[in-house]
Amino acid sequence: MSVKIETLLAQAGCGRDAKTGALATPIYQTATFEHPELGRSTGFDYSRTSNPTRLALEETLAAAEGGARGLAFASGMAALDALLRLFQPGDRVVVTEDLYGGTYRLLEKIFRPAGVEAIYVDTSQTELVKAALAQPNVRAVLLETPSNPLLKIADIPAIAKLAKARGLLTMVDNTFLTFYLQRPLELGADVVVYSASKYLGGHNDVVAGALIARTPELGERLAFFQNAVGGVLGPQDSWLLLRGLKTLPLRLRQQQQNAQRIAELLANHPRVRKVFYPGLPSHPGYAVLARESSGFGAMLAFEVESASRVAEILKRVRVFRFAESLGGVESLITYPLAQTHADIPAEIRDRLGINDRLLRLSAGIENTADLIGDLEAVL
Ligand SMILES: Cc1ncc(COP(=O)(O)O)c(C=O)c1O
Repeated sequence: MSVKIETLLAQAGCGRDAKTGALATPIYQTATFEHPELGRSTGFDYSRTSNPTRLALEETLAAAEGGARGLAFASGMAALDALLRLFQPGDRVVVTEDLYGGTYRLLEKIFRPAGVEAIYVDTSQTELVKAALAQPNVRAVLLETPSNPLLKIADIPAIAKLAKARGLLTMVDNTFLTFYLQRPLELGADVVVYSASKYLGGHNDVVAGALIARTPELGERLAFFQNAVGGVLGPQDSWLLLRGLKTLPLRLRQQQQNAQRIAELLANHPRVRKVFYPGLPSHPGYAVLARESSGFGAMLAFEVESASRVAEILKRVRVFRFAESLGGVESLITYPLAQTHADIPAEIRDRLGINDRLLRLSAGIENTADLIGDLEAVL
């Protein structure tokens, strides 16, 4: 019987241990597996290749995203590394220009020297993507949408269609909205990548990553890199993610509600210059996201009137926590210039608008009035 996503997630990993009937998937803390005899295997040989706890997570991720194969990695960066190994020296990949600083670092410091070149584009402008896809040796497009930290929205189906017409892969970093709100594979993408440290884990207590491929063939190629390079997620962290996933819909609903209220407060606040939240009708990506997702997520950014106020705000917040990362139950405030995007060269940051007045918020599940009160007090 096919069930709705809330049901699938609530019962993630249930009933996989016929021997004991354990409801939750046990943590199979083992590196290796004993063989009954030569030529026979239980299906598990060595935990880098496959582990029952990780497999329960990977199958849940594949089912939730609507893909053929899910793969869990030790971090979002390890997942992105495995993904980019699909490309050969001389290949080029069109990439969202205002993306997570660590992805930029991976592309520029690891893959560019190895001959794989990123072409950065404002992927909220489909025409610009179309022109970039037509450049020689382009093999794929990597969209981060909403982008980090400016929450720009790419039109996934329009871009996937353009890529498909040229026989190119569409890859989507779905970290900010997750399969609960945005379904890239159904919108035409070939593979989805996650920092699972964020909403999927949801409690700011595990670092993890994931890839979900639409087809078994692509899943098999990525699984080869996962096993050959070995950046796999361990059984304890796989179990934590399985547990986190069960409450993803509940968490995201509350987080999104908090984000919407915070965005409305900031949009009308005299001490705030600009607000970036795709759930505000004034946001340029509002119409696309309203059409293509079932929610606007819980990430937002805003510019204060002057950079001289930033240090004081970061010091004085009491409910928001000043920390890198996002997507957990605790609300976080981040200063992208000095934290998540410090590895992007200053001239690029300036052009993109990642300036010294910009703060990023990840709304948690706390009481809305407490969050609003905290921001009103510091502003
Ligand atoms: C959109 C996005 N993708 C990828 C990553 C990298 O993931 P991780 O920190 O789990 O390695 C991050 C981390 O912040 C992110 O925000």
